[in-house]
Amino acid sequence: MDKIRIRGGRPLSGSIAVGGAKNAALPLMTACLLTDETLVLRNLPILADINTLCNLLLQHGVAIHLDGAGGACAGRTVELTARGVTNTTAPYDLVRKMRASVLVLGPLVARFGEAKVSLPGGCAIGARPVDLHIKGLQAMGAAIELEGGYMIARAPGGLRGAEIVFPKVSVGATENLLMAATLARGETVLVNAAREPEVSDLAHCLVAMGADITGIGSDTLRIRGVERLHGATHSIVPDRIETGTYAMAAAITGGELDILNTRLDLIASAATVLAQAGVAFTEIEGGIRVSRANGTLAGVDVMTEPYPGFPTDLQAQMMALLCTAQGAGMITETIFENRFMHAPELMRMGARITVHGASALVRGVDRLTGAPVMATDLRASVSLVLAGLAARGETTVNRVYHLDRGYERLEEKLAACGADIERIGGEGGDD
Ligand code: UD1
Repeated sequence: MDKIRIRGGRPLSGSIAVGGAKNAALPLMTACLLTDETLVLRNLPILADINTLCNLLLQHGVAIHLDGAGGACAGRTVELTARGVTNTTAPYDLVRKMRASVLVLGPLVARFGEAKVSLPGGCAIGARPVDLHIKGLQAMGAAIELEGGYMIARAPGGLRGAEIVFPKVSVGATENLLMAATLARGETVLVNAAREPEVSDLAHCLVAMGADITGIGSDTLRIRGVERLHGATHSIVPDRIETGTYAMAAAITGGELDILNTRLDLIASAATVLAQAGVAFTEIEGGIRVSRANGTLAGVDVMTEPYPGFPTDLQAQMMALLCTAQGAGMITETIFENRFMHAPELMRMGARITVHGASALVRGVDRLTGAPVMATDLRASVSLVLAGLAARGETTVNRVYHLDRGYERLEEKLAACGADIERIGGEGGDD
């Protein structure tokens, strides 16, 4: 199994181009199931999770054409045509690899009146139920049984519009029900809907496909169902989590990076917190320039929240940054339980962190020191890379496959900006 080896302490300098958002690409790809015409998605990131979803869609009978060289799903533009859908079952083997697979549920039931989708089960960052997806579809008239670890949804006469008030904000449930509602009879209102830019990106693409949606970007989405959707071409929104991660890479190493193909407004809340910690952001053509404002970083308090709040997907990276700041900072995680697994690994690198339930007190140290580390999820893994870039000595990050799920050519991008980082082939095992 591959590892990443980093010799830390080198300030980054140069430019890094950000790809399309993984978390927008995944729901957008499942939206192809809503029409028999071709959906063309541009700015597609090349990632393991995209590959996993391609495999799921292929087994449903979707024809996929990827523009670009390389492996099965490498490419910048993908054309998806769900004309010959023969199979409405999403099997456990694929869904367990990636929770976002559950996003095929809404589109399949809406267009075909049936779907059998494996329950995703637990994951490294908590229980992560799908009850809101299920209740929403039931409110829209689907009968859903749970059997043998599968959700079996049936709506032979089609779905009907409903008012659905989410008791908590869920990105995935909003996306699933938004897609389902586009083909339902009558009007659906999603109240307390997620406002993440990836949700809005999906909604804009659905409108381009002929859907009738208002309130995009707000917490109330109104969808008037239409008879059918058609093909469209859509460019995927830049990845704000990748953007924020590289911004923190610039800051933690005391370097300066131009982060391109992205926008500052996508990371507004993170940029506000980072500015308080001493990170300077300047908008430049096509992106953002990031460096420290005056040499040192300072501890700040931060709480994760649904968009437009500070994203949970940048929490681990923020913790790495605070480890090297002057003074203390408190991180409170409100979205997922059990999302501090990176803390003990950072502590192996000399960090001073105390975790109390959903909060972690991080006291800055002068210098982290390199160590062999590993993490059990994507964002935790990248936080260890950031720590390694700032640490004295050598850090080896194991279980690199987590990084490959969400960061395209991470080590190449960082190395091009002066980091001493390389991928090394492992010899089996993952330690
Ligand atoms: C998405 C993102 C993920 C991000 C998360 C929160 C994708 C592919 N993934 O995940 O990177 O960390 O949003 O911003 O876009 N919940 C329920 N019942 C449900 C659904 C969710 O209780 O039916 C809970 C979850 O356990 C969690 C909270 O709601 O505590 C938010 O989860 P949700 O927004 O649904 O996350 P995902 O869509 O899975």
